[in-house]
Amino acid sequence: MSALSQDELKSLVGRAALAYVVPGQLVGVGTGSTVNKFIDALASMKGEIPGAVSSSEASTARLRALGIPVLDANDVGELAVYIDGADEIDHHGHMIKGGGAALTREKIVAAQSTTFVCIADESKLVNTLGAFPVPVEVIPMAAQRISRQFAAMGGEARLRFKDGVPLVTDNGQHILDVRGLQIADPLAFESQVNQWPGVVTVGVFAHQRAQVCLLGTAAGVKTLTF
Ligand code: 5RP
Repeated sequence: MSALSQDELKSLVGRAALAYVVPGQLVGVGTGSTVNKFIDALASMKGEIPGAVSSSEASTARLRALGIPVLDANDVGELAVYIDGADEIDHHGHMIKGGGAALTREKIVAAQSTTFVCIADESKLVNTLGAFPVPVEVIPMAAQRISRQFAAMGGEARLRFKDGVPLVTDNGQHILDVRGLQIADPLAFESQVNQWPGVVTVGVFAHQRAQVCLLGTAAGVKTLTF
């Protein structure tokens, strides 16, 4: 059998995540190319769930296009499960997220959910977070000061651009991508950066870590629990 492509691995874990959707209950939905596979698979269950709480305008549009109702997070209580991808995940379920610029709403929906199920291909599993540049959503007027704070800890922050202009998130803010960090203590790092004025959300998910990771591997879906 030939090796599965990264796209096929994403489809595999997207479909596997259906097993965590609780019939009769809302599901929290993340953002990204892996989650898009999950959303497509979720269409087969749309008669069994009242709908979803979404983490981005992009996921909302995809869910609605498939006939899956999207509810406002303020109108619902705690969710049983949140399904989302990651840019990196370590062996404790800590993640770097925000490659798709949706980190703030992702963290909000994750915090509202009892169980975070991460879906990822095996290239995302790392021993130490930080090879992937850490996304940080910031209030634009604070970007330079926050960049200097990262420089003081050995990181190089760059403003993310799209189509030649600074990317504007769903929340109307900017993203800094920070290279050169080795995040030995993700909980402490997240707590520290969260305190800096002008930081909206840091893309380290340690306080909102995953409890389960469905990892797409050449041998099939491997389930990690943390
Ligand atoms: C978006 C995210 C995504 O979950 C992360 O970037 C992974 O995306 P993909 O599944 O496309 O690799 O955090 O903000």
